[in-house]
Amino acid sequence: MKRSTLLQTALLTCGLSFSAASIAGGASGEMLGNTCAGCHGTNGVSNGPAAPSLAGIDYDYMVESMKQFQAGERNSTIMKRIAKGYDDADIEAMSKYFSEKKFVMASQEYDKDAAKRGKKLHKKYCKNCHGDTGISDDTDDDSGVLAGQWKPYLNYTFADYQAGDRDMGKKMKKKFKSLHKKAGDKGVADLIEFYASQK
Ligand code: HEC
Ligand code: HEC
Repeated sequence: MKRSTLLQTALLTCGLSFSAASIAGGASGEMLGNTCAGCHGTNGVSNGPAAPSLAGIDYDYMVESMKQFQAGERNSTIMKRIAKGYDDADIEAMSKYFSEKKFVMASQEYDKDAAKRGKKLHKKYCKNCHGDTGISDDTDDDSGVLAGQWKPYLNYTFADYQAGDRDMGKKMKKKFKSLHKKAGDKGVADLIEFYASQK
């Protein structure tokens, strides 16, 4: 399904959310964060498939992501418009709120053999920064959660990276290139199955 179609469905369910941005100014992270629930789920646990879970997100990574969305530095279908409705204090409060929630892995189908191959690729090319399983808690790099993240979201994210619509940073780019050289698009698909395999 096209990303825009997935989002239209999401938008219908959370049309009310946008006006809630106007409660800014001293509103708590929780109050502000509740306005994101239509797409990112209650407490930031997304029901999928195009919106990622925010629960358990790295604080610095989320602050940075929101600012990149605002500035149009990170490609987005909807988040630029949304992020613009919040100031730095709001963003920090929401990031604190979501980073303290527990990440719940999405329950989704996956291909066992592909996940096995993906695991090996992850270990070789991605583990240093994204941790053993794709949760970056145990590394110094601030990045999103990959393990248990929705497959459609991961697919779009990789497509954005490959098209150059989102900057992945010099070091990740190098690893990503080596991965692609060795395993091609199939390698990327295998990695996604590996992240999806974690429950
Ligand atoms: C209409 C649906 C929708 C709403 C409402 C929404 N988001 Fe999003 N969010 C998305 C989608 C879809 C993406 C993927 C990027 C894109 O295409 O815009 C995303 C991505 C993100 C990301 C990046 C996560 C990562 O792992 O890289 C953050 C952070 C985020 N949203 C925060 C928020 C916050 C905070 C709110 C509430 C103030 C919010 N979003 C409201 C749909 C939504
Ligand atoms: C040198 C460290 C480093 C390496 C190696 C690395 N990454 Fe990353 N990755 C990051 C950082 C930092 C970010 C956050 C980038 C941003 O702010 O957009 C990130 C973000 C991502 C995201 C987006 C997460 C989201 O929620 O939107 C994906 C997907 C990803 N990396 C996959 C990979 C894969 C697959 C590999 C192995 C081929 C890899 N990375 C290797 C540091 C790294």
